[in-house]
Amino acid sequence: MYVCICNAVTERDIGSAVAEGCGSLRELREQLGVGACCGRCTGCARDVLKNSLHARAPHQLSVSGSQPMAA
Ligand code: FES
Repeated sequence: MYVCICNAVTERDIGSAVAEGCGSLRELREQLGVGACCGRCTGCARDVLKNSLHARAPHQLSVSGSQPMAA
């Protein structure tokens, strides 16, 4: 599925970028051009990015932001 029509970026392209270390919308924009033209794809790209990150490391997303337990 195309996420960014302006730059012909697919869901698979975003997944590959995440596999290579991309972890933010800004990095996606720098690497693939997502959202760099009309910007209409930003919301969808954010969702695809979030799903790709979660698929790669589901336990890390649930842990981030949690407080350390008191001893
Ligand atoms: S659809 Fe992505 S910048 Fe236009």
